[in-house]
Amino acid sequence: MTPYYLTTPIYYVNAKPHLGHAYTTIVADAMTRFAALMGREAMFITGTDEHGDKIVKAAEQAGCPVQELTDRVSGEFRALWPELQTRPARFVRTTSEEHKAVVRAFLQKIHDAGDIYFGGYGGYYCYGCERFYTEKELENGVCPQHLTPAEYISEKNYFFRMSAYQERLKKHIRDNPDFIRPARYRAEALALLEGEVLDDLCISRPKARLSWGIELPFDSAYVCYVWFDALLAYVTALGGPESAAFDKFWPHAEHLVAKDILKPHAVFWPTMLMAAGLPLYRHLNVHGYWLSRAAKMSKSIGNVVSPLDTALLYGLDGFRYFLLREMQFGSDADFSEEALIARFNADLANDLGNLFSRVLVMAEKFCAGRVPVPGPDADREREIKALALDSLANFQNFFGQAQFSLALERLWDLVRALNKYVDKAAPWALARTGDGETLGTVLYTLLECMRKTALHLWPVMPDASARMLSQLGCACPTLEGADFSGIRGLLPAEAENFGTLEAGTGLAGTSNLFPRIDVKT
Ligand code: ME8
Repeated sequence: MTPYYLTTPIYYVNAKPHLGHAYTTIVADAMTRFAALMGREAMFITGTDEHGDKIVKAAEQAGCPVQELTDRVSGEFRALWPELQTRPARFVRTTSEEHKAVVRAFLQKIHDAGDIYFGGYGGYYCYGCERFYTEKELENGVCPQHLTPAEYISEKNYFFRMSAYQERLKKHIRDNPDFIRPARYRAEALALLEGEVLDDLCISRPKARLSWGIELPFDSAYVCYVWFDALLAYVTALGGPESAAFDKFWPHAEHLVAKDILKPHAVFWPTMLMAAGLPLYRHLNVHGYWLSRAAKMSKSIGNVVSPLDTALLYGLDGFRYFLLREMQFGSDADFSEEALIARFNADLANDLGNLFSRVLVMAEKFCAGRVPVPGPDADREREIKALALDSLANFQNFFGQAQFSLALERLWDLVRALNKYVDKAAPWALARTGDGETLGTVLYTLLECMRKTALHLWPVMPDASARMLSQLGCACPTLEGADFSGIRGLLPAEAENFGTLEAGTGLAGTSNLFPRIDVKT
């Protein structure tokens, strides 16, 4: 099985983490857990992006030294991840000595190869994006992301010969249809490359203007442009390009970002890798924005939702489920507490929670709280089992393509079908008429399908999945830190056959997994 290496963006430390950051990191965690369950040696990394004008400005505004601000906010990001049950294998800080060494060696290498030159430059700069814009990209001189005027800056700088790699990159994206996904972002990236000749990338800032950065190894009067520095955090996290971990994981690297940072990941980063003679990443997975009151949730607009407060209020499992279920990966989605409550009550309290509660109560009552011995299958069992295998295979397929919402919809086909199967098979009537064998078959089929459902939900709702499995008398996947090896490879067989649950296993007598959220009017 190929290894699996996934990265989140390395978040800026100019403001506290909000729901957008939490979403990307939760998705990264779910994708990594899923990859491990599918049999891959899997890990994801995250971290903080700490250099550049933006951070210096934030520190000035906060009235504290920049080092103090970066330490504090980086610490807030780091502390949040375990609270959301996300398990990054590493947390990289771009101000660490290890990262600085990786960036300087990389710069020196492509400088020696002739891909960096010194030249004059004038251009429109957006401090929010930390990048120069062409006039065409601006809307009446205003940055389309931040809605603030870009500033004209003219100075001598170092440039990366990005244009030299334009054709090669275009060909790579054309030849590898899933390099950037979903397809609409692949089309956007191709459009950036198909128009005019790419500008070379300005990769330095004079220290006279900005000193909070990594000094260029070949000119101490300049620091490195923050994007050129930050993207390399993905390499630092593996111990640098010479490390054994890099050799093993890098060829399978995947990135996860929102559409705001498509260009640096789809254009800057692959051309940088080409210049350094390093393999390109395997996939760039791009998602849309969480909107709040119809605008992108962002610290500059000030309409942010605190992930921790929301998770504490509604429960972490419901929160994670909502984020993955509600957003069609690639499109924007609206965040509202009403939508979260509606989804929670319909899918978790009603469909899934009720299924567990009614089946476990019946098993307690009719089978002394133990998994019964199943009798032979009738048509009804053959039908529900075929549906189960189909739903699970579809779930696995969609989840593997980062289509979480579709994956969960398919899994809920099974959950709803199981509830209908209970109604149709009416175990209470079988108990009344003394048909113990059929009763055993029906309850066994239900419990086995519930076990499969619980296991498939582990990447999305790790705690609830563990509770469900323990109610079914099954071992729950346990983790040592970010080591997913204990659960590796459990899923594929689950979409192929039945019969793992052992008759006689003790079950919980009741279950109240997702108490309904009542809305006070
Ligand atoms: O761009 N909806 O950092 P950043 C969904 N440091 N996701 C959102 C979001 C929203 N409303 N708002 C933020 C940077 N995100 C650079 C990255 S990588 C080498 C350097 C998430 O703190 C989403 O993943 O602005 C987005 O791409 C990222 O946070 C931007 O984080």
